[in-house]
Amino acid sequence: MAARAKNNVIGKDNDLVWHLPADLKFFKQTTRGHTMIMGRKTFESLGNPLPHRDSWIVTRNKDYKAEGITPFHSLHEAIKAAEEKGLETVFILGGGEIYRQSMKIADKLIITEVHENFEGDTFFPEIDLQIWKEVSREEHRADEKNKYDFAFVIYNRKENA
Ligand SMILES: NC(=O)c1ccc[n+]([C@@H]2O[C@H](COP(=O)([O-])OP(=O)(O)OC[C@H]3O[C@@H](n4cnc5c(N)ncnc54)[C@H](OP(=O)(O)O)[C@@H]3O)[C@@H](O)[C@H]2O)c1
Repeated sequence: MAARAKNNVIGKDNDLVWHLPADLKFFKQTTRGHTMIMGRKTFESLGNPLPHRDSWIVTRNKDYKAEGITPFHSLHEAIKAAEEKGLETVFILGGGEIYRQSMKIADKLIITEVHENFEGDTFFPEIDLQIWKEVSREEHRADEKNKYDFAFVIYNRKENA
């Protein structure tokens, strides 16, 4: 699950680059009650684990500790734990480094597409339409609270891709 700009920017200086309350609400509704896997940098940019969901943090630092999270030392280790727990859904929440490693294993991309270009230093990987099929798109116009036009888009991995 990610929010990306037209030019694929997702972050700058270890922070987000836009403020879209509608996206935040969508994110909270979608992930509530689920397990979320994220990179250590994304976790630290959030500052705290979000309530009502499990935060699994991927770090190479074997001594990493933070309140309210479960650390893992590779993405593979976290995915394996989700399988062993019998979780049907696990959300991968970035950032750039974690998304790059996840594109081969994800079976669905839930993307907020912000219809603007932004300056940034972290990017979402290209979504290869040979591999991914757009299955839904909900367009939203900018309004007084949400400064940019955006869409909630879902891509499913194509069969055998
Ligand atoms: N727009 C969006 O949807 C969205 C979502 C999430 C994040 N973001 C943005 O993305 C940026 C952060 O992304 P990022 O690429 O800099 O960092 P990141 O992916 O959040 O975290 C990178 C860290 O994860 C750990 N890591 C990565 N791969 C690993 C592996 N295979 N095994 C063990 N640990 C691994 C390492 O932690 P250690 O250094 O501790 O070893 C690494 O430094 C921020 O700007 C954030 O705001 C945007």
